[in-house]
Amino acid sequence: MCGIVGYIGDQQASKIIIEGLKRLEYRGYDSAGIAVLNGKLEVKKGKGKVSNLEKMVTSAQNGQIGIGHTRWATHGEPNDINSHPHTSQNGKMALVHNGIIENYGTLKKKLTDQGYEFYSQTDTEVVAKLIESFLVKDNRSLKKAVQHALHQVEGTYGIAIVHSDYPDQIVVARKGSPLLIGVGEGEMLIASDASAVAAYTDKVVYLDDGELAVITKEGYTVESANQIELTKEVHELALSLEEIEKGGYDHFMLKEIFEQPKAISDCLRGRINSEDGTITLGGIEDVMDKLVNAKRVVIAACGTSWHSGLVGEYLFEYLAKVPVEVEYASEFRYKEPLIGEGDVMIAISQSGETADTLAALREAKARGALVLGVVNVVGSTIARETDAGVYIHAGPEIGVASTKAFTAQVTVLTMMAIKLGLEKGTITKTRATELITELSRIPAKIEEVLEDTTEIQRISNLFSYAPNFLYLGRSYSFPVALEGALKLKEISYIHAEGYPAAEMKHGPIALIDEMMPVVVIAATHHTNDKMISNIEEVRARKGRIIAISTSENTEVADLAEFTTIIPETMDVFSPLVSVIPLQLLSYYIAVNRGCNVDQPRNLAKSVTVE
Ligand code: F6R
Repeated sequence: MCGIVGYIGDQQASKIIIEGLKRLEYRGYDSAGIAVLNGKLEVKKGKGKVSNLEKMVTSAQNGQIGIGHTRWATHGEPNDINSHPHTSQNGKMALVHNGIIENYGTLKKKLTDQGYEFYSQTDTEVVAKLIESFLVKDNRSLKKAVQHALHQVEGTYGIAIVHSDYPDQIVVARKGSPLLIGVGEGEMLIASDASAVAAYTDKVVYLDDGELAVITKEGYTVESANQIELTKEVHELALSLEEIEKGGYDHFMLKEIFEQPKAISDCLRGRINSEDGTITLGGIEDVMDKLVNAKRVVIAACGTSWHSGLVGEYLFEYLAKVPVEVEYASEFRYKEPLIGEGDVMIAISQSGETADTLAALREAKARGALVLGVVNVVGSTIARETDAGVYIHAGPEIGVASTKAFTAQVTVLTMMAIKLGLEKGTITKTRATELITELSRIPAKIEEVLEDTTEIQRISNLFSYAPNFLYLGRSYSFPVALEGALKLKEISYIHAEGYPAAEMKHGPIALIDEMMPVVVIAATHHTNDKMISNIEEVRARKGRIIAISTSENTEVADLAEFTTIIPETMDVFSPLVSVIPLQLLSYYIAVNRGCNVDQPRNLAKSVTVE
């Protein structure tokens, strides 16, 4: 959420910063801006996309140090004035910020009383003026002034600062919002996300909460909150440029949908053994005894990750016979959660930076639970703060609507549930072998769905006009119904609701008439008869039935007006296959409606504010 990039070295900073901002644009795209030191401070910023900013930046802006920002508005509407960077009153210092300053009202009042004037409605401008007040007042160094100011700030931040009196340094600090240093040869970058630095270096240093760093072109120093100099580990980035480019697809979302067979194969690689029916999950081997003895498992996540958590609930309860509760991470700590020693929390997050999920895991940890992560982004905050975990290895997900992360998360949860079932003795080795064998076939089954998308495209063309959609599913297909509805509303702005199919008759049935498309996910065998009854109920009210059904299920195909056939698989694995046509349906409808698929309005990837 919001993106920060900075550069210091011998190259033209603005060029590198703009390029980095383009890579980060998926994190927020309300407005963008840049500040470069070129003898004096030069700031360009404005509402709209980075391409807009690019037009404002002239070749004259050839300073070799600068910072940039792409914004997802929290305080103050997205307009030119509220765009970052924000500047000090004397025009010498510029600051970019991700996060929220909670006490900005009180600070603003104090600063106004001291004579400071504010031009924007943002919380960020307050931090710029606060730092300036310490610089001016006590003649401190920039670093000391920043440290002093941050002591007064409540909330979350990732900040980067340049000052024309300090033309050879960028000062950065982090609390609750990610920041990293890209370490180059005679040049350094800073960014909120590794994809912005990957073109220049594969060496990164992740800052932790409370840390502040001073970056020069030759190096960096990092200090803890209590001003002790730290030696930070330099990590190797395993991120290829190919992974963060569209590679011939029209949109990242489409590329990521088609990447799912590979993403799942990568996720399974080296972890499953269908010959001896074993699963090895390096990240949690040491805590397996605690998982085996867990009284219950609490899953905390948001959005699509919450939906994969719901699939996880079905899997863990069925295969490992452990009670599971799936919590909206954002609500978890507001209900005095009954969680403690002997309980296990699984925090699921693609980005590993979602503020609500982070808050839930911290709460669970503080109450004594073991906290495991199911995370995509290596080195992210959630990955680092959990006691142990399993990476999903889906590769970078750039499209704001999550697709391959969902299926890879479900794949990891499936492996965890089978492994736990085996260790607890709730499934036999023979059963585990059958399950693992079928799991290894899932990438090929997804490939089959992706081979021919003509029917899904035809259905999308027919229903792109619809103002509402209903999605129905039972058992493992219920979370898939929720996910299908979420995908559609996010990127096409069509109102859509997912329901357990049987709940339809307790209310939503009132909505059904000949104008209502009803997507029925009939992918689980053990609920088929009941789904057929629900389909009949929709038909009786003239609803338009779009069914996702397996190849052998001719009964559903006969009843539905449109059917997309998916390959047969075991019920436990059905979400991995049945979600694919729903992702495609939302994609093609959004394209037909002329929506910006990769950057839907108001959304941002990685929601780092609560
Ligand atoms: C939906 C979507 C969001 C995220 C949610 C959690 O397509 O992308 O609903 O799933 O914001 O994000 P992560 O998984 O990064 O914690």
